[in-house]
Amino acid sequence: MKIAILGAGNIGGTLGKKWSAAGHAVVFGARDPGSAKARAALESAGQGARAASLAEAAASGEVVLFSIPSGAMAETAQALGAALDNKILIDATNNFAGPVINNLAALQAAAPGAQLYRAFNSLGWELFADPKLEGLQVDMFYSGPDGESRRQVEALIAEIGLRPLWVGGNDQVTLVDNLGALWVNLVFRRGWPRRTALKALGSGPE
Ligand SMILES: NC(=O)c1ccc[n+]([C@@H]2O[C@H](COP(=O)([O-])OP(=O)(O)OC[C@H]3O[C@@H](n4cnc5c(N)ncnc54)[C@H](OP(=O)(O)O)[C@@H]3O)[C@@H](O)[C@H]2O)c1
Repeated sequence: MKIAILGAGNIGGTLGKKWSAAGHAVVFGARDPGSAKARAALESAGQGARAASLAEAAASGEVVLFSIPSGAMAETAQALGAALDNKILIDATNNFAGPVINNLAALQAAAPGAQLYRAFNSLGWELFADPKLEGLQVDMFYSGPDGESRRQVEALIAEIGLRPLWVGGNDQVTLVDNLGALWVNLVFRRGWPRRTALKALGSGPE
């Protein structure tokens, strides 16, 4: 698939490296495609990946991952609206200080025909780099619409090495947001290591 990754930092760089290794065409979108972070992400993703402006990357992607600071989401979504519409958009951004942790509303307003998913928000990037903990595969709880686009998102989660765990449509997004809030509480208030994950034991239907 053609994957645009807007934000080439910890999250974008880590996921882009794995998706590139899995054979996807990854384009990192950056304010400055020559920035240190964009160059580091490109170097680690290797051949097949490239860096471009946010607009060029968004236009090129069939799937667009948002891994920029939450505070930049409204403006970025609005600016890129037409390039995002009717695509699969994945929101990994977190606004823990605000009333709503995700940024799906900004994406919905800018790209009303897009399929929106909430994923990669609830754990530290280190677990995406190495998604095994104490011999167990780390779970990635996510929400978004069912159907073909979900199968594609699920495959992308699995290619990171995580076990995709769908909690339902975006009417359930608060569950996914709050798993991130719980992780932040454990790590930043209770002193657990960043390689802490939340696991559902057992298995449910696909
Ligand atoms: N870190 C984690 O473990 C983690 C886990 C789950 C979710 N998240 C969420 O994922 C997002 C990214 O986190 P991160 O840790 O990957 O951050 P990061 O390492 O600081 O990377 C952020 C990226 O966004 C770019 N950026 C900064 N301001 C921007 C703007 N105004 N417009 C467009 N791009 C901008 C930066 O590029 P420049 O080089 O141009 O500054 C950088 O490439 C955040 O919303 C965070 O809450 C993080």
